[in-house]
Amino acid sequence: MSLITVFPDKTSWTTGAAEFLLEQANSALAQRGRWTVALAGGNTPKPVYELLASPDYANRVLDWSRVFVFFSDERCVSPDDPRSNYAMTRAALLDRVPLPAANVLRMAGEDDPARAAFAYEQALQGFFRTSAPVFDLICLGLGDNGHTASLFPGTASLREQTRTVVAQYVEVMQSWRLTMTLPVINAARHVAFLVEGTGKAAVVQQVRHGAYQPDVLPAQLIQPQPGQLHWLLDAAAASAPP
Ligand code: 6PG
Repeated sequence: MSLITVFPDKTSWTTGAAEFLLEQANSALAQRGRWTVALAGGNTPKPVYELLASPDYANRVLDWSRVFVFFSDERCVSPDDPRSNYAMTRAALLDRVPLPAANVLRMAGEDDPARAAFAYEQALQGFFRTSAPVFDLICLGLGDNGHTASLFPGTASLREQTRTVVAQYVEVMQSWRLTMTLPVINAARHVAFLVEGTGKAAVVQQVRHGAYQPDVLPAQLIQPQPGQLHWLLDAAAASAPP
């Protein structure tokens, strides 16, 4: 059962999503003494990260030194490439809050994709001390073709049931990607889709109310158990009729 929150406009969506992240952080810090979060890439979450980094929000996080940041996927580019998810999150959030650099585990987009995927998988195993990591929160975006993280339609990564991180050549993007896989995403305590804008209304409707066709709409494979799935939408993204 997913929890859906629809905000009236982009401004309230941005505020609501930042409040959600703040609540997630402080709940995990209070209950478990740390917050392990995998950030989504793309453009959508950028204003949310920027708001979370502002003093009104950043100063309310109980303890940044116990926050640990990961990435749900990465483009296979250098970390200073404008296409890099790390570059986006660094500018919007990571460099603006008192988060120790050692607490950020970056996917090495600049390395050989297969080697970088294996290295990240090893890093997760080392951090969580298990081959089956359980994140407090994994944030996801939604592509207008139904992809999420870098789980694209028709790709082998959709069928990965043992690896936690894989490299995937994405034909439609003509590029390599690194992505967390369904076993680790669906093991998280909380998974949140952050989606806004009219341009995503059709795909939100298809994913949430359309026929179950996960090879076409990989976001339909995001079914955390026993964790909780959240949809944070603005009215525009939620506007297509079911
Ligand atoms: C990426 C993301 C990807 C993204 C969607 C939506 O690396 O691009 O992880 O899954 O969330 O493509 O992208 P926008 O937010 O830019 O629409």
